[in-house]
Amino acid sequence: MQKPLWQLLLEVPRPALPAFEGLLGDEASALATMEQPGKAEWLIDAIYEEEPARAAIAAAITAAAEAAGIPVPVWSLESLAQRDWVSENQRNLAPLALGRFWVHGEHDRGTTPVGRIGLEIEASIAFGTGRHATTAACLEAIGALGLKRRYRRVLDVGCGSGVLAMAAAKLFATSALGCDIDEGSVRVARANARANGLLGRVDALVADGLSARRIKAGRPYDLILANILARPLTKLAMPISRALAPGGRVVLSGLLASQERQVLGAYALVGLKLEARRARDGWLALVLAPRNRRA
Ligand SMILES: C[S@@+](CC[C@H](N)C(=O)[O-])C[C@H]1O[C@@H](n2cnc3c(N)ncnc32)[C@H](O)[C@@H]1O
Repeated sequence: MQKPLWQLLLEVPRPALPAFEGLLGDEASALATMEQPGKAEWLIDAIYEEEPARAAIAAAITAAAEAAGIPVPVWSLESLAQRDWVSENQRNLAPLALGRFWVHGEHDRGTTPVGRIGLEIEASIAFGTGRHATTAACLEAIGALGLKRRYRRVLDVGCGSGVLAMAAAKLFATSALGCDIDEGSVRVARANARANGLLGRVDALVADGLSARRIKAGRPYDLILANILARPLTKLAMPISRALAPGGRVVLSGLLASQERQVLGAYALVGLKLEARRARDGWLALVLAPRNRRA
């Protein structure tokens, strides 16, 4: 199984943020800072693609605390997959209303309110329960796209639990293909497709980016979803643009506000420009369209 992402969480007073951002920012693939309602401390949320050395994290946090003149804060470092599996199972999560969708577990089957589209997602080893800001922002973006037109050929790169592929398949009454580098996620996505009555309409395969033969054979796609991280999104600009149908749309997420210019720059070079943006907890979901589009 592919290695999960790692998440470092800690809380510090606002004036201390620059010292922590400076010392943690270089190693992390993404680093967000968030104000917390009713609390003086801000939350620092850093994501790593590889498990960082705990001794190096401890040293960086101690140095940042010294530079900021505050006591060394408590911190936690855990894999996102472990967190999903352990805590989300235990909490018996309540359903989430996200845009046009109602994301719920098996225990809340049958609770989808009239006018919303139910997505049954089991807490598991795959990323994508709807609790993360990037998934939520993507679901809202997909819902908003659906107000304007229908998309028939959908590709979800980095599908995790399959939540975005399933959302698009249900909203547009179509089929969708997901892919993930993580075999476990692909198994979970298939199981979720079955639980949602989407067998035969939503499938997933193990693939790195858009490299798999089956993905290439399915081109062009008129909706491509990719909630990964800024670095892989930047690398995927060319293959995504080549796989996109004229007038199609791309939804990108997994990037922080501070990484938007870098990502948009890479996509501008391949003829895609920003059409809409959604921000949640410091994370963005970007909707891109071909520069010379007809639709
Ligand atoms: C942030 S999760 C998103 C999951 C789900 N799509 C969602 O929106 O909640 C990113 C997923 O992308 C996968 N991934 C990362 N790099 C990838 C790549 N180069 N090709 C395919 N999948 C990738 C990870 O394994 C992970 O499941």
